[in-house]
Amino acid sequence: MDIIEGFKQKARKFNSRIVLPEGEDDRILQAACQIMQEGIAEVILLGDESKLVSRARDLDLNIAGCQVINPASETEEKAALAELMYELRHHKGIDREKARKKTSNPLYFGTLMVAAGKADGMVAGAANPTGRVLRPALQTIKTKAEISIVSGAFIMVLPRDEFGEKGVLVMSDCAVNPEVNDEELAEIAVSTARNTKKLLDIDPVVAMLSFSTHGSARHPLVSKVRRATNRARKMAPEFEIDGELQVDAALVAEIAKSKAPNSLVAGRANVLIFPDLQSGNIGYKLIQRLAGAEAVGPILQGMDRPVNDLSRGCSVDDVVNLVAITVLQSN
Ligand code: ACO
Repeated sequence: MDIIEGFKQKARKFNSRIVLPEGEDDRILQAACQIMQEGIAEVILLGDESKLVSRARDLDLNIAGCQVINPASETEEKAALAELMYELRHHKGIDREKARKKTSNPLYFGTLMVAAGKADGMVAGAANPTGRVLRPALQTIKTKAEISIVSGAFIMVLPRDEFGEKGVLVMSDCAVNPEVNDEELAEIAVSTARNTKKLLDIDPVVAMLSFSTHGSARHPLVSKVRRATNRARKMAPEFEIDGELQVDAALVAEIAKSKAPNSLVAGRANVLIFPDLQSGNIGYKLIQRLAGAEAVGPILQGMDRPVNDLSRGCSVDDVVNLVAITVLQSN
């Protein structure tokens, strides 16, 4: 069974409620139908109900099983969410009127539903750029205890199985933080290791990547990766974590033997932690395009409750798959 089918099958065991704020997007309507039909989650669509129903009719879709809520309507539910927004953000200068206006925005409405426990997770980004999807969640849902930074991981499924865990590698941060310090890099490593264990049920073997292997080069950027490695080990001694490692030493057993003979991680890493977003984002796209790997994600990690961001070029299947992953993160 492929990884995605496995996620969907597991998701069916939970009765999770996932909110999709971009209900007026055709792909979201189609995905909502498929998610309900396949029993992956209960769907809450945000948008103008009459528009949604009429568009669904045009597309020959049955959305009768989905709950539809219009964030523009002044309901008791919206008033409660606006009050929550006020409570969470009045220290940042938001008054009740501003909180009400923000709550009319479906992305805020959706994240507030998740923050209030009215939904178990949110998936958006088919019609909005990353920053617009993430900011409401970063402002209201916040991070898990012990973690101060949200990051984005990709599960890369390679066409050949000699690397990682039978051809599966998890990589981070490929989506969120342009630059991080050593503490943040350590947290990203730990979040990614935990996410790997939770979603894939494999033991993470974590390589903290650099352009140097165990002191082969000296540079402040290398020292940062080394400090992050030590911190990550202290935070999560249950995981195998090593660094700094070059990516060939991390992945290839023969090279590991000569470059890092004492490392338990080198040559068998299945989790790759990039030192910054430029290398992470470029790295996953290179593997996707040149090696023909399937890239599943970005999967946001570190948030107290799950919110995931789609690409604006996403397909209906991408939405369905990310909803299945969101269900698993919420349980
Ligand atoms: N983790 C936790 N909290 C965060 C993070 C983070 N990574 N980033 C920002 N925050 C918090 C801030 O502390 C702030 O909290 P506060 O308001 O309670 O004080 C809140 O979020 C909002 O902060 P802003 O300063 O408004 O947000 P910022 O301008 O830093 O934007 C964002 C955050 C949107 C994630 C930004 O870092 C970003 O755009 N990153 C790049 C995303 C991107 O373009 N990725 C590549 C494309 S994706 C792909 O190819 C798969």
